[in-house]
Amino acid sequence: MSKTVYVTRKERFNAAHKLWHEEWSEQKNFDTFGKCSNPNWHGHNYDLFVTIKGVPDPITGFCMDLKDLSKIINSKVIDKLDHKNLNMDVDFLEGIKSSTENVAIAIWEQIEQDINACGCQLHAIKLYETENNFVEYYGGK
Ligand code: NI
Repeated sequence: MSKTVYVTRKERFNAAHKLWHEEWSEQKNFDTFGKCSNPNWHGHNYDLFVTIKGVPDPITGFCMDLKDLSKIINSKVIDKLDHKNLNMDVDFLEGIKSSTENVAIAIWEQIEQDINACGCQLHAIKLYETENNFVEYYGGK
């Protein structure tokens, strides 16, 4: 009998960003975005959890080889984000406000097809911006 299992790979990246709305005053930006509105940028140590779901292969016992999952995440996401400025340096974040929510959605879109190609489905993106704040995205609307 085939049973669905959820498998998670953790990766990390460090990146700079700023949350800022041009039409607002510095005070309103600070009131809305807090320290993330610092005009001269700041950084976060992000923790990224990518969860896939699949049925374990009868021979390997794996849903997906975690080396393959790590390779996908690194080539499509980490290499593009790590030690970069999320507002300026990242092709797949162009025109997107660099909130944790938006970055999580963009990461999903970067890796979903490659995970499907391995016979699994992407289940969740969990992205920690700080120890205490994280977002989850499960795809769709
Ligand atoms: Ni921030």
